[in-house]
Amino acid sequence: MLQRVDKWLGMSGMSRSEARRCVAAGRVTRGGEVVRDAGLRVEAEELRLDGAPVRAEEQLYVMVNKPAGVVTATEDSRLPTVMDLLPKAMRRKGMGPVGRLDRDVTGLVLMTTDGELAHRLISPKRKAEKAYIAACEGTLDEGDVRAFAQGLALSDFTAKPARLEILASGREGSTARVTLTEGKFHQVKRMFAAVGHPLRSLSRERIGCVRLDPALEAGQYRALKADEIAGLKAQVGL
Ligand code: URA
Repeated sequence: MLQRVDKWLGMSGMSRSEARRCVAAGRVTRGGEVVRDAGLRVEAEELRLDGAPVRAEEQLYVMVNKPAGVVTATEDSRLPTVMDLLPKAMRRKGMGPVGRLDRDVTGLVLMTTDGELAHRLISPKRKAEKAYIAACEGTLDEGDVRAFAQGLALSDFTAKPARLEILASGREGSTARVTLTEGKFHQVKRMFAAVGHPLRSLSRERIGCVRLDPALEAGQYRALKADEIAGLKAQVGL
């Protein structure tokens, strides 16, 4: 099958921009000749990187329903990771989570070998939405909705405008859906704390067009469907 050089290299575990850098540095050859054009369409078997054949494997795209207590990393010396939730055959080089959820946060984590897609989904520039269900202390009201919509000033940055939909609110506590396009460290927790409603729990339900499958119990995974993969790629310009 003919495909672009940068796509084949991407399928071997590196991001599309790393692939272009390899080409620019003259590290990629075809039939003994240095490849100068990352967009050249070739067969995978023709390519060499630093003299070694390029092993382009089918990309993996998976969703995981992360339970609390599991870290969003490929390895950890003490704690279980999202990688441990996958079968051995999927735990290959280049496979990893798209962005991070805190250890106590549950719900949707996407995992893929497609470095370029992962990079674009977490880049604030691409504006891929992430939606969470949050349970917090106190009574959320329209003032909080406006504060989220205006962009909240936190101690070290101002959060971009976010959508807050109140699902239930009362003196006993409130629940809301919050949708945002960035994902800085503890961002959602910090936004709720900034409006005086510390979080009790947080769960991610959606990234871009992909929703957490309600059939997945905590700790389970499933491969993304072709339309989910195509939808995610289209949203970030791939
Ligand atoms: N916001 C948080 O505070 N934590 C997460 O894990 C994700 C978003």
